[in-house]
Amino acid sequence: MGPFHEGNPQLQRDEAQRSIGMAMQTIMLAARDMGYDSCPMIGFEFDKVAELIHLPKDHCIGPMIAIGKRSKDTWPKPGQLSLDEVMITDRFRD
Ligand SMILES: Cc1cc2nc3c(=O)[nH]c(=O)nc-3n(C[C@H](O)[C@H](O)[C@H](O)COP(=O)(O)O)c2cc1C
Repeated sequence: MGPFHEGNPQLQRDEAQRSIGMAMQTIMLAARDMGYDSCPMIGFEFDKVAELIHLPKDHCIGPMIAIGKRSKDTWPKPGQLSLDEVMITDRFRD
């Protein structure tokens, strides 16, 4: 994949975020399997966290995941969009 990403920092960043998303979901599912709950978050200061963890210059930060034992039940869900609204097959309608 090297040459495909070379010289294209935006694509490299997109690729990293795609991989982070897949890793995050795997971690969250594994946590659930181990009896923990989890919550993904992007509401934090990326630069401050980068400084704290000594993030190398050629790395980027993705969302953070809190994992732990639930202390209370989740809020009721506001509802779910229908599959028709979120899934596009072949092409968008004109
Ligand atoms: C990648 C990602 C980042 C998120 N970041 C935040 C955040 O910074 N603050 C926040 O209140 N919710 C954030 N959320 C939403 C919560 O993690 C959570 O999904 C939301 O509170 C609804 O909970 P539920 O999915 O259990 O209904 C984020 C969700 C995702 C997928």
